[in-house]
Amino acid sequence: AQLAVLAELNRKLYFGTATDNPELSNASYVRQLSNTLDFHQLTPANSMKWDATEPERGVFNFTGGDQIVSQAERHGQIMRGHNCVWHNQLPDWVTAGNFDNATLLSIVENHCGTLVGHYKGRIFSTATNIALLLNFSNRRLGCPQWYNSASSVKLLVAYLSLTEIFNDDGTFRQTVFFNTTGTAYIKTALRAARKADPHAKLYINDFNIEGSGPKATAVANLVKELRAEGVPIDGIGVQSHLIVGEVPTTMQQNLQFLASTGAEVALTELDIRMTLPNTPALTEQQTKDYDTVITACKNVERCIGVTLWDWTDKFSWVPGTFAGQGDACPWDDNFNKKPAYFGIVKGWLGQ
Ligand code: G3I
Repeated sequence: AQLAVLAELNRKLYFGTATDNPELSNASYVRQLSNTLDFHQLTPANSMKWDATEPERGVFNFTGGDQIVSQAERHGQIMRGHNCVWHNQLPDWVTAGNFDNATLLSIVENHCGTLVGHYKGRIFSTATNIALLLNFSNRRLGCPQWYNSASSVKLLVAYLSLTEIFNDDGTFRQTVFFNTTGTAYIKTALRAARKADPHAKLYINDFNIEGSGPKATAVANLVKELRAEGVPIDGIGVQSHLIVGEVPTTMQQNLQFLASTGAEVALTELDIRMTLPNTPALTEQQTKDYDTVITACKNVERCIGVTLWDWTDKFSWVPGTFAGQGDACPWDDNFNKKPAYFGIVKGWLGQ
């Protein structure tokens, strides 16, 4: 039993992982990354972000993103883009530019349109991606009902267009975009992305929306408002950077609630960290927690897939950000499967 195969057996469209360019020089890492029995989807952890893709105004660089798209294409894996607009990893020219409303909106429009437009040709010209996914889903199992009745190609590239635009209390985060344009940049970004690639699914993506609460409610309300106004928005990315022993008990019901907006839902950045050192009790709890999270997605029809925020502890972002924490991934530093891996298997198998 392997992760992508099990996800598919549960009528999900993919199980995947984030990856990053420096990691691609590690042959053992790449071997597992390319294993489509575990992963049939990739997300670039850094190289499609604004600082990487438009380091100077109007000067675009897609080298890193292209490398990851090529890696995915070689193995027929689906790409999720990440991301169009985020307040982190912005180049100084954006944060310190002191642009007025109209200028910043045109900058957002140009950035999102150019980024999404760049990948339109490459992703959609790769019939292998489409064929592989449809073959997988149609030939062996059949797509989920709701997916068939929507569009059959739309999912193949999804952009986490808007990342982390809310505070935990559900108010809008004070970013250069919000402070200058109010909420106008949200619509501008989404419309520009849709125009650049009408087939790309557009997501809003945030953390701390795994369980019920003001932030999840705010995201749902925004999605409903956007849909009512005809602004393109297809999905809600629930990041799922979780802590061992603290998976919200409301996760499944909350995923259902988010899906009730009419948007689809995906777990986009899953990892479950702990305070080190690891102990048998923590390992056991983490295994259960992975099971719980997968079960929540499994039981919500419109939860369409799960992405790990890298699969190995060797390249996890956690220790670099939270001192003294780690061991968050299903594979260890040496690329061996941990009990957490089997927690995911158990979640999909439902035993
Ligand atoms: O590129 C520089 C390199 O030149 C330099 O030598 C090196 C020294 O530290 O830093 C490199 O930049 C790092 C970058 O990753 C690329 O490796 C940054 O320091 C580091 O802060 C950055 O971390 C990324 C983080 O986002 C930034 O906020 C993580 O890899 C990435 O996994 C993480 O991902 C985010 C999602 O995009 C959004 N949701 C939360 C998630 C976790 O923070």
